[in-house]
Amino acid sequence: MLRTAILAAARSRRVERLVETAPVSRDVVRRFVAGSQTTDAMRVTRALADDGLAISLDFLGEDTERPEQAEAIRDEYLDLLGRLGADGLTPAAEVSVKLSALGMGFDEETAYQHARAICARASEVGTTVTLDMEDHTTTDANLEILAKLRGDFPTTGAVLQAYLRRTEADCRELATAGSRVRLCKGAYKEPESVAYGSRVEVDKSYVRCMNALLAGDGYPMLATHDPRLIAIAEDRLRWYDRSPDSMEFQLLYGIRPEEQRRLAADGYTVRVYVPYGNSWYGYLMRRLAERPANMGFFLRSVATRS
Ligand code: FDA
Repeated sequence: MLRTAILAAARSRRVERLVETAPVSRDVVRRFVAGSQTTDAMRVTRALADDGLAISLDFLGEDTERPEQAEAIRDEYLDLLGRLGADGLTPAAEVSVKLSALGMGFDEETAYQHARAICARASEVGTTVTLDMEDHTTTDANLEILAKLRGDFPTTGAVLQAYLRRTEADCRELATAGSRVRLCKGAYKEPESVAYGSRVEVDKSYVRCMNALLAGDGYPMLATHDPRLIAIAEDRLRWYDRSPDSMEFQLLYGIRPEEQRRLAADGYTVRVYVPYGNSWYGYLMRRLAERPANMGFFLRSVATRS
């Protein structure tokens, strides 16, 4: 119920204005977001890289409505990649991109061309791009653009969401040599017709999808903070006789940082997903929806300020 309400609020412009202007919000945001500027993203990336972690940077923005906004987001990524290359932070750092930020909502070709330019710059500076996945209405178009991008940039990463009923089949399809696939549970409000409704069903689906990826020839990127799923993944690696460097774990900036370091110390590649920029509202609301404790943290900081 709470998750549904928060995810509905994530789509409300009115609630967005309220939350964005609340004096407390910045403190809460700082826990999950690197900062508003490219320099903040660079600073956090450097610190994580120095700790032996890999990074995927996300310039926050989604549901772009105008061509000039999409161009500005593309240009930010091009600039960011140039700086990462110049500072020797590639290939440790890559970028994550949302096609809706690049204009998918009004023109698929525009989004594709912008994503292509970002992949080309990433390739020049020796790193990769992963296409974030958004709500289920965009899955087919996202995977079609991924396939086109992979024609020229085979390392472009896909994201699949275990809560969708279709995903086990998508995992089998994408588990081919060289194919980088991030598996997450899924963060959007979806109807039961396309998505599993209960946590248990989603977790079971995650395990089936993980098995499909680990049994294949690709490069699975297991994105979860769930201790049970991480333990199962470590066990399955042995089952499938995979070495730790044939996959990676991914976690979000600010969430279970001690587990990020524990996994890295155990020899795994651990990539931290680091968002930055001013458009943090949708991202923050999805994090609050995932975990009542995060909501408690948010409300407590409101209470202590008022
Ligand atoms: P879940 O939220 O169910 O939590 C399971 C358990 O993990 C909890 O019971 C607790 O034990 C532990 N835990 C979780 N949060 C914790 C915290 N703050 N502190 C301590 N313990 C905590 N989604 C999407 O739709 N498209 C995308 O492209 C991406 N991309 C993406 C990249 C990366 C790197 C990650 C990690 C996640 C995404 N996601 C995503 C989000 C994803 O779909 C999902 O919503 C969140 O990761 C939350 O799911 P978990 O698997 O972490 O488990």
